[in-house]
Amino acid sequence: MQRETLQTLEQEVDFLPLNGTDHIEFYVGNAKQSAYYYQSAWGYELIAYAGPETGVRDRASYVLKQGKVTLILTTAMDPDSDISNHVKAHGDGVKFLSLWVDDATKSHEEATKRGAKSYMEPTRFEDEHGYVVISAIHTYGETIHKFVERSNYNGAFLPGFQKPSHKLDVEPVGLKHVDHCVGNVELGKMDEWVKFYEDVLGFKLLLTFDDKDISTEYSALMSKVVSNGNGYVKFPINEPAEGKKKSQIEEYIEFYKGAGVQHIAVATDDILHTVGELRRRGIEFLYVPDNYYEDLTQRVGKIDESIEDLKKLNILVDRDDEGYLLQIFTKPVEDRPTLFYEIIQRCGAQSFGKGNFKALFESIEREQARRGNL
Ligand code: FE2
Repeated sequence: MQRETLQTLEQEVDFLPLNGTDHIEFYVGNAKQSAYYYQSAWGYELIAYAGPETGVRDRASYVLKQGKVTLILTTAMDPDSDISNHVKAHGDGVKFLSLWVDDATKSHEEATKRGAKSYMEPTRFEDEHGYVVISAIHTYGETIHKFVERSNYNGAFLPGFQKPSHKLDVEPVGLKHVDHCVGNVELGKMDEWVKFYEDVLGFKLLLTFDDKDISTEYSALMSKVVSNGNGYVKFPINEPAEGKKKSQIEEYIEFYKGAGVQHIAVATDDILHTVGELRRRGIEFLYVPDNYYEDLTQRVGKIDESIEDLKKLNILVDRDDEGYLLQIFTKPVEDRPTLFYEIIQRCGAQSFGKGNFKALFESIEREQARRGNL
C-alpha cells in the first residue's frame, strides 16, 4: 500500500485526534498555599489567576506553568460545592486531566456516541483575547477528561483568568512536558478501563505488565498502558493483585476513597540537574538501596551519565530495544498516601522502567510499612 494511503487510513481511524495534555487541574484544600509550594519548590511560574478579585465568586484558581506543563490548583469558597465535596472525599487530588484538541465539539460527540458519559456539553467561553470551546467526559472514579479547543484564543490561559497581581520570582528546574499520567482503579476493573480508552477514545493497548512483572515478596499489582494514535497521550492503568500483604494500589484506593490519578510523570532533558535542584528545595524521593547500583552497568550497558552521580541522587536506569531511560519517584505530595510525581528522562527508550519495578515497589513497601499500611 502507498505510504500516503496508509497515512490517510491512520487519520481516518483516529476519530479523536489529540495534540497532547492541555492542563491538569487539582481540587485542593488551600490553593494559595499549594501554589506557593509549586512555585518555590518545583519552579512553576504563576501565569494566571481567577477568584473573587476577578469576579469569580465560588472558587480561587491558580494556573502554574513550566515548559509545556500547566497545572491549575482550585479551592472552593463554599463548603457545599462539588469542589469542597471532592476535597472532603479524596483530599487534594486530580479532578481534570484535560486534553488539547482541535475540535472540542466533535471530540465530545465521538466519545459520547461510543458510550462516554458527558460531564459538560461543548461550551464556548470568550473574552477580549478570543474564544475557546470546552467539553468534558467522565473517566475512572470522579476524574474527568476535558477537551480544550483553543486555536481561536491568545490570552494568558483561558477566558475568565487574569494575570496574577502577585507572584514569586521562580527558578525553573527543567520540567518539559507531561510524559504519562497513571490511574489506579479497583480490583478487577483494569480491563474495563482499558476497554473504555480503546472503544470510547480510540486508544491502543501499548504494554501489559502482570503480577509476575510487578511483584515483591509481599504485594503485587497489574498494569496496562494505553496510548492515543500519535503517542502524545499515554495512560497506564493499575489495579491491585493478590499478595501476602496489602498492595500499594489498595492503599491508594483506601485513602483516596476510590479510583484516581496515582502519578504524573514529567519529562526533563537533564534529570541530574532537575532532581538535584528539587532535592535542594526539599522534595522527598523514594529511596533505593546502594546495592541497586552495584551491577547496574551489566544490566543496562553503557550510559552517558556517571553511575556515581545517579547513585548520589538515587536515580534509576532501565533499558529497552530503543535506548535507555532515567527515572525517579517522589514520595506522596500530600499527607494521604495518594498522588506522587515521577521525573523521567528518555534517552531513546519508550518504555516505563520495567527493570526497576521490583526495586521501586520494595521501596514503596518500606514507606507503606512506616505508615502502618502494609
Ligand atoms: Fe510512570
